[in-house]
This record gives sequence, structure tokens and C-alpha cells, in this order.
Amino acid sequence: MEIIHVSAECYPVAKAGGLGDVVGALPKYQRELGHIAKVVMPMYRTKFLRENQWEVVHKGYTHLHNYWFNYTVIKEATNKLGFDLYLVDIYGLLDREKIYGYPDDTERFFSFQIAVVDWLAAWSHQPEVVHVHDHHTALIPFMLKYCYAYQKLQGIATVLTIHNAQYQGQTGMEKTVYLPDWDIWKRGLLEWGGALNPLACGIRSAWKVTTVSPTYLQEMRYSAAGLEALLEYEKGKCSGILNGIDTVVWNPATDGYIEHHYSVDTVEEGKKKNKEELCRRYGLDPAKPLITFIGRLVVDKGADLLPQTIEESFYYLGRRMNFFILGSGVAGIEGHLQSIREMSRGDYNTFIGYDEGLSHLIYAGADFILMPSRVEPCGLNQLYALRYGTVPVVRDTGGLHDTVIDYGDPGGYGIRFLHATVGDMTHGIWRSVELFQQQERLRETRARMMQLDFSWEASVTAYLELYQQML
Ligand code: ADP
Ligand code: GLC
Repeated sequence: MEIIHVSAECYPVAKAGGLGDVVGALPKYQRELGHIAKVVMPMYRTKFLRENQWEVVHKGYTHLHNYWFNYTVIKEATNKLGFDLYLVDIYGLLDREKIYGYPDDTERFFSFQIAVVDWLAAWSHQPEVVHVHDHHTALIPFMLKYCYAYQKLQGIATVLTIHNAQYQGQTGMEKTVYLPDWDIWKRGLLEWGGALNPLACGIRSAWKVTTVSPTYLQEMRYSAAGLEALLEYEKGKCSGILNGIDTVVWNPATDGYIEHHYSVDTVEEGKKKNKEELCRRYGLDPAKPLITFIGRLVVDKGADLLPQTIEESFYYLGRRMNFFILGSGVAGIEGHLQSIREMSRGDYNTFIGYDEGLSHLIYAGADFILMPSRVEPCGLNQLYALRYGTVPVVRDTGGLHDTVIDYGDPGGYGIRFLHATVGDMTHGIWRSVELFQQQERLRETRARMMQLDFSWEASVTAYLELYQQML
């Protein structure tokens, strides 16, 4: 079977979060099962682009309403990632350093999608499945079905994976003119809540819709940033397939980002050395439990709760632990996290920014990782933490519910709390400190966590079964 993944992110080419990790791994495992899996993404000006070899495979000319543009498709020449990787370049729109955050993101991703469909139409054969990810690529199923110029592509099965329904790509209905001539009777498919809503359009137009955990699929029926009724209506074609992790990239025994490697047999010693390294760099005390956070500093992740939780933990529980935060996002949260450095007595620090290498050192060196998410469709941090023997302290929601069992329950290994509040999180921190003091129990918990299997093997089969149903 030939599967084309279309995405805004793909690790290690360009990554802002978990979407990049998933699209960088899933095709590799599909390929291992004997299928042809390709990834198509925009050609941002990243380090990966500069450091690798490329060949031009297609040049085309198409338009975003009355703005005509040339596009070029290049392919990575050495199959370095374990699947075919294609980048689409559109001069003036995609030739930027960052993935998102520009005022013309709508125009950038609309043009990207139009170029992808235009390129597919030029192929001499057709893939069986086009698998699109999130709103940046969610208009493709509509275009394949209803754009007159691309009618020959109507038979290609399409899957939309919703990695996070909070982001829908809404824009004004006047921008429907951007799309290549389409069946005007289908206008309703583009609109939701008075706006052009790419994610809603994808949910209606794709043959199948998936999301990244079974619990998030259920949660979306009552909490999906305005799409609840639509998801209820379309529930027959929706399923929840849990993400896996790339166990080659995320392996404490071989991880290229850390110096002190370890396995389940050497975890105590290995984590100790990584913790010392991390604490040395950031002026923390390695004798105390190290409680960390890695992620986008946004309200959905509960990052706004961190400063007050840290202050209250020190106040009520005493200065018995260290905190270290890695992230970037909302300026107010960044500023608050930086400002509380002033009250640190060698037990709090933060790195504001994005740093892949530092994140690996944290998974390896931390004792606990906090995830107080209000919304967490799957979450990969907790899965990486488990593999590195770091106890996840999570709010019981979405994919966190599906992957973390509280250590107080049979077979458990993590710490779960119910509400995204300062009080509940502080209680989770108190339980972390208690667990840290029971060294034998902590050792057992670490060994249990590291032996859990969250690899892609199970999920990759679920995706293939889904594709088979459509064919
Ligand atoms: P989301 O995709 O919603 O941000 P996930 O848990 O699925 O959340 O994935 C987050 C991914 O991004 C993980 O690989 C995590 O390590 C990484 N990450 C998030 N913020 C940073 C950061 N500031 N520096 C390095 N890696 C980060
Ligand atoms: C999104 C979600 C996150 C998920 C990731 C990969 O960014 O917020 O929960 O793990 O996509 O699917």
C-alpha cells in the first residue's frame, strides 16, 4: 500500500511539538511492515535542509485565487529517515525559518495544500491513501473530492488525524475563493460557526477521522472548542488510536543527546549521573527530588498554574524539592516563571526557549515530570518519561488517562490528579516527595515504567487496518 502523509511538522526536519514526533516516526514503522510511506511537508529554512542532500522531483505552477505561484518539490536523496521525504517550496510563502506564527499563515498553508494536490495530479499513478494531520492540511480531503481540476484524484482514500482540536485554522469565509474552482454546492462543508474552518471541513470531507487516544475521542464529544456537535454527528467514521513513540530516537541506552547512557539494569546509576549534570548546569541540589516540566507554556498545558504551584509547594511542603522548567509560549507565563527565579535558594530554575538536547537530558536526569494539562489529546512527554524511568505526575485527562496508572492502583507507576488546579498539583508534588523518600518503592517503580511498551508496533497495525477498511 502507498500512503502519503501530509503535515506541517516532521522530526527531525521541523518540530514544534508532538505532531513532529508522530509524523517523523509513524511512516518509518509503516515502511518496516512493507508499505510505501512518504511524507510531504513545507520547505522551511531549517538546519536539516541545509545539512542534507536533495534532488528536485517536480516543478509546478498553480494559484491561490488570482495569485499565481511556482512551486518546487524536492526529495531527500539518501532515504536518511527511513521513508521518502518531500519538501514543497513556494517562494515568498514557505521560505521561512519558523513553522508557524506568521500573519500570513492562512495563505502559507492554503498554498502548500494546493501545491500538494496539484503535484499529486501530475503523478502517473495514484497512492492508495492520503493521510493528513491537523488543520494545516485538513482541506486536502475536500480538494481531492470537490475541486474540478483534480477530479481524477477523487478515488484516493483520505484520513484526517486530529492531534489537537483546539487549533482549527479558522479564517473568513471570503477566503474560500483561495481554493481552486470547487463545487459551489459544497460550500457548507467549508463553513462552521460562520467562518471557514479547515479542521471542521476535514472532519466532514475525509473518509475516516482519527484522533490520538481513545479517551480524547470521547472527551471531544463534549469538549472540542466548538466542534462537539459535528464530532457527535460524524462519530461513525471516527476512531481513537494511541500514539506510539520512536524507541530508536528515545532510548536512554543510546540517546545521542545524553552523555551517561543507561538501561533498566543500570537506571539508578545512570539517572544519578544525568541528574548531577543537569543540576550542575542549572545550580540545583541533586540530593533533593527534581521535579520538571517540558512543553509549550500555554493554558491548555496548565503552564499558567506552574508559578503559583511552585511557590505554594515551597511554602506548604518546605524546600524539600527542586523544580526545573523548560518551555516557551505565552509571554506572561514566561515572564512569571523567570521572575520567580529571584526566590530560588538553589532549588528552582527555568530555561525559556526550545532546546531538543536539553529536553533529553531532563527526561534522563529528572525524578518527576509534571503534566497538569487541561487538554491533552495524547501527550508524548509522559511516554518519554516512562521510557527514561522518570515518574509522570499528570492530570487525569485524554491520553494521560490512557497511559498513566497511579502508583496507588494495582500495577501502577505514575501519579495522577483530577483537576487542573494549584491545589491538586501541589498534592501531586507532595506525593512525589513522599515517593522519593521511599527509595525501594521508587526503584521498583522505575524498573516497572522502563519495561512498559509504548512503541509504535500496536498503533501502526491499527492505522493499517483502518486504511484496509477504506480500500
Ligand atoms: P504538544 O504536541 O501538545 O506540544 P506532546 O506531549 O505531544 O505535546 O509533545 C511535545 C513534544 O515537544 C515532546 O517531544 C517534547 O519533548 C517537545 N518539547 C516541547 N517543548 C519543548 C521545548 N521547549 N524544548 C524541547 N522540546 C520540547
Ligand atoms: C498534539 C497534542 C498532543 C499529542 C500530539 C501528537 O500536539 O497536543 O497531546 O501528543 O499532538 O499527536
